[in-house]
Amino acid sequence: MRYVVTGAAGFVGSQLAETLVADGHDVVGVDCFTDYYDPAEKEANAAGLDVRRLDLAEDALDLDGVDGVFHLAAQAGVRSFGDVFPLYLRRNVLATQRVLEAAAAARTRVVIASSSSVYGEAEAYPTPEDAEPRPISPYGITKLACEHLARAYAAGFGADAVVLRYFTVYGPRQRPDMFFRRVCDALLDGTTFEIYGSGEQSRSFTYVGDATAATIAAMERAPAGAVYNVGGGDEASMLEAIALLEEISGRTLDVRHVDRAKGDVARTKADVSRIGDALGWRPETPLRDGLTAMWSWASGRVAAA
Ligand code: UGA
Repeated sequence: MRYVVTGAAGFVGSQLAETLVADGHDVVGVDCFTDYYDPAEKEANAAGLDVRRLDLAEDALDLDGVDGVFHLAAQAGVRSFGDVFPLYLRRNVLATQRVLEAAAAARTRVVIASSSSVYGEAEAYPTPEDAEPRPISPYGITKLACEHLARAYAAGFGADAVVLRYFTVYGPRQRPDMFFRRVCDALLDGTTFEIYGSGEQSRSFTYVGDATAATIAAMERAPAGAVYNVGGGDEASMLEAIALLEEISGRTLDVRHVDRAKGDVARTKADVSRIGDALGWRPETPLRDGLTAMWSWASGRVAAA
């Protein structure tokens, strides 16, 4: 198959693109290499892939001969109040609207990366897909807008879109603003790690290899219009996760508590029965194994520098 992966220089997008290539597919990556974090990291992620520089919010997306689009390009990060909001609107809402236009016109399936942040402080745990979405971060609001756009393009133009709600993905190449990456970097540099709030907040952490497997299964087998949670099996609090990384690394983290971040939810826990029943996908990687792989990547990176 010939696939387009947007955000192909990013944390999840680059590993998805590599898996598709390894499976024998023809993959064209697109990415606009924003400076949300060091673009050199994105260059390194994209090494070995065919990634074209394209700004989805204004450049045309050519889908001639393309069998499917994996739309992972986004302005990520739930801590999204303030002056940065226009970037979220442009890189999430506008970019997704343009991808849907192009995909609907070309009659190409799109798998869209959404987020557990659409649930906000969820109605129920584990959270099923039909829980009322009520995001508490501007980021989550833009991701929910993308989901609504997908539905509107399906209703209006017959677009074939599948939505995946990723739950805090981690593993090698994790973005430098994310929790585990910052913990690994602080353990490696001996610097202080700032934890937002008590550290009792918890997440359904999802290993990146499990997330990419779900994403490919969705492209290949999901019915049009499906919405699925993609969440890891092990829920852990930040304090539990730090203890696990300390054990794996054999180091001790210097932790300082600072104010809770606005837009941060207290808990996520995915109900993954819908994707399990429909696609046979379930998270396979225990947190300990995923964190061992992540620690080995992060320490290897520092050793190589
Ligand atoms: C992550 C991603 O950043 C989002 O792009 C994604 O959409 C979202 O998961 C999702 O699941 O929908 P988040 O859960 O906030 O968002 O992931 P982390 O950045 O890894 O943060 C996890 C927890 O660690 C949060 O409670 C956060 O407050 C805390 N944290 C993070 C700290 O205490 N200190 C830090 O320096 C960073």
